[in-house]
Formats: sequence, C-alpha cells, structure tokens
Amino acid sequence: MAKLLEVEDVVAGYGRGPDILTGTTLSVEAGHVQCIIGPNGAGKSTLMKAIAGLLPLRSGAIRFNGERIDGMRPDQILRKGICFVPQERALFGKMTVRENLRMGGFILDDPRALGQRIDAVLEAFPILGERATQRAGTLSGGQQQMLAMARTLIVEPEIVMLDEPSLGLAPQIVEQMYDIVHMLREKGMTVLLVEQNAAVGLANADRGSVLDLGKTLFEGPASEILSDPRIQELYLGKPSQVA
Ligand SMILES: Nc1ncnc2c1ncn2[C@@H]1O[C@H](COP(=O)(O)OP(=O)(O)OP(=O)(O)O)[C@@H](O)[C@H]1O
Ligand SMILES: [Mg+2]
Repeated sequence: MAKLLEVEDVVAGYGRGPDILTGTTLSVEAGHVQCIIGPNGAGKSTLMKAIAGLLPLRSGAIRFNGERIDGMRPDQILRKGICFVPQERALFGKMTVRENLRMGGFILDDPRALGQRIDAVLEAFPILGERATQRAGTLSGGQQQMLAMARTLIVEPEIVMLDEPSLGLAPQIVEQMYDIVHMLREKGMTVLLVEQNAAVGLANADRGSVLDLGKTLFEGPASEILSDPRIQELYLGKPSQVA
C-alpha cells in the first residue's frame, strides 16, 4: 500500500544552529494512528514543524500522496490536507470558540460552506456547542485541547498532526481526548501524534516510531514497540527484567 506521508533522510535545524533532525526517516500509512515517542529534546516537535512547513529542510525530502511538499509554505501544506496542532495548541484566547473555529477555516473561500462546517463541528462536540460564544481562554485545559482538535476538522484534512495532545490533562480527560483521536480515524483521517506518555500513546496507536537524537531508531506496530524489552527500558520507563 502506498504511504500517505513519507519523510526521507531529513536534516533540519534552527537558524544557523546545529542539525536537530539528523537524517530522520518516517512513513505514515493512510488510515492509521501513528505515535512518535522519544526523550525530551529528541526532535519530535521539530519533525512536526518541518512537515508542516514551519522549518526549512537542510536536506532530504518530504512527500505527501507521492508529491514533494518540502519547500512549500505552511498554508500550501495545509491546503494539501495536512493539519498541525502544535504543543502549545495556538488558540486565540480572547476570541470565542466559534471565532476560533472560523480562524481554522481561513483557507476556505466559501463563507457558507465554512458556516456549515462550523455548525457541524459544534454539533459533534456538544461541550463546544454550549460554549460557542465563550472566550477560548476561559475553557478548561481539556476543552481547549478539544477545541484545537475540532478546529482541524473545519478544513477536513487527510492527516492531523498532534504534538503532545495530552499535555497537562487529567487522566480521565486524556481518555476523552483519545476518544476524539479514534473518532477522527473512523472518519477516515490519518493521525500522527507525539506523546510524552509513551505507553498511553502507543496503546492508542496502530503504529509507533521511536525518535532519538534526531533519528528514527525503530518503526513498527505499536504493540511490538510496547512489548520490546529494550524499548521498554529506554523509553517506557520500565526497568529491564533481571533473569
Ligand atoms: N525555536 C528553536 N530554536 C532553537 N532551537 C530549538 C528551537 N526549538 C527547539 N530547539 C532545540 O531543538 C532540539 C529538539 O527540540 P524539540 O522541541 O524538537 O524536541 P522534542 O523531542 O519535541 O522534546 P520535548 O519532549 O521536550 O517536547 C532541542 O535541543 C531544542 O533545544
Ligand atoms: Mg516537543
């Protein structure tokens, strides 16, 4: 099966600084939830920024549906169907829930279609529907994450990239957030996510990628990564079994 997203030997860094991605290779199949794990500073957020067009590549290539997208502007990449929810969620705190959803659809030219999609999203997420006129900054952390994810639906992307979507959320809210991830998958979307809680992220994913020092060390079925003793010891915080 053809891959939806392919990252090939990507080298990238910030300004004149050192390479952060040092030859990263990653592939994502359509319809899957794929979880990237790895220690702090591994380059997970940097990889997502590079895919979203927020950071130029120094070398390598990124393909989406077989087409080179590296070198395109972030809005062009969004139009191709790649939506990115950054670690800091990037909501407009002083704007209402509805206004935030409208901002998410800035690439849509048809105001009527935009209005319809906003209404559909508010219906699919009743908690947001009840708070449509409330300022985003006054929502709870879980509701803000829900809004950030709901906002991606406005443009009906093919793939949603979520950087640490469970950051700062209580365990019960994390579960609700993953319910939304599964809902996106059922709608036919592909989800690429970074998760600090590797065990939770992998348990909710089809495939996993282990990133360290700017390189993908392992990519495979999430269940295989979860049960690999070396990966458990290094990245899942479990001590290795002493025989
Ligand atoms: N805007 C920036 N300018 C310069 N260096 C940066 C910038 N953002 C990140 N870095 C550096 O890039 C490296 C990788 O950071 P990145 O945020 O991609 O890691 P991460 O795997 O997402 O880590 P975390 O788990 O802490 O979110 C770090 O050394 C970091 O200091
Ligand atoms: Mg990060």
